[in-house]
Amino acid sequence: MTKIIGISGSLRRGSFNSALLRAAAALMPLGVELKIESIEGIPLYNGDVEASEGIPTRVAELKTAIAEANGLLLATPEYNNSMPGVLKNVIDWLSRPASDIPTVFGGKPVAVMGASQGSFGTILSQNAWLPVLRTLGTKPWFGGRLLVSRAHSVFDEHGSLKDEAIGKQLERFLNGFAEFVKA
Ligand SMILES: Cc1cc2nc3c(=O)[nH]c(=O)nc-3n(C[C@H](O)[C@H](O)[C@H](O)COP(=O)(O)O)c2cc1C
Repeated sequence: MTKIIGISGSLRRGSFNSALLRAAAALMPLGVELKIESIEGIPLYNGDVEASEGIPTRVAELKTAIAEANGLLLATPEYNNSMPGVLKNVIDWLSRPASDIPTVFGGKPVAVMGASQGSFGTILSQNAWLPVLRTLGTKPWFGGRLLVSRAHSVFDEHGSLKDEAIGKQLERFLNGFAEFVKA
C-alpha cells in the first residue's frame, strides 16, 4: 500500500481546503491511501520553547508520519496572495531540528493543491510554496495543477464536492501524483 499524508492549511471548521482533501481521500486510486493529518493545536514556532521543551508532541508525531509516508499532499489556502501563516508555521516546526530535514522531507514527493473563494484558485499561494519545498529538499510534483476557484460554489453546505468537472480534475491530479509517488 502506498501511503500519502494529506495536510490542510486551514483550521476553519467549514474549510474548503479541508473539504478538498476529504474529497481527495475518497478518490485516491486503488492501492494508495491518503491519510489526513490535523494541524490543530500546533503552537506558534518559538525558538525559546524549542530550546527549553523541545519539539511539541503533535509536531513530533507529524514528522514521523511524513517520514514514514511515500508522499505528502498539501491543500493550501491563499492569504494575501501567498501561503497562510498557519500552514507555514507548521512546516517551520516540522523542519526542526534542521538535522532532521533530510529524514522528514529529503526527496519526498510533494504535491500542492488549493481552493479559494477568488478567481485564481490559490495560484499565488501555490507558487509561494515552491522556494520552501526546494529549501527542504523535497521532490515536488509538477505534472499537474489543481486550482479550485470560487470554492463556495464547488462544495455543498456539508463540504461535499458537488462540481463534477472539478471532481474529474481532482481524480486526474491524484492519479498523476500517485504514479509519481510510486515511480
Ligand atoms: C487573511 C485572508 C486573506 C485572504 N487572501 C486571499 C487571496 O489573496 N486570494 C484569494 O483567492 N482568497 C483570499 N482569501 C479568501 C480565502 O480564499 C477564503 O477565506 C478561503 O475560504 C480560505 O480557505 P479555507 O476555506 O480552506 O479556510 C483570504 C482570506 C483571508 C482570511
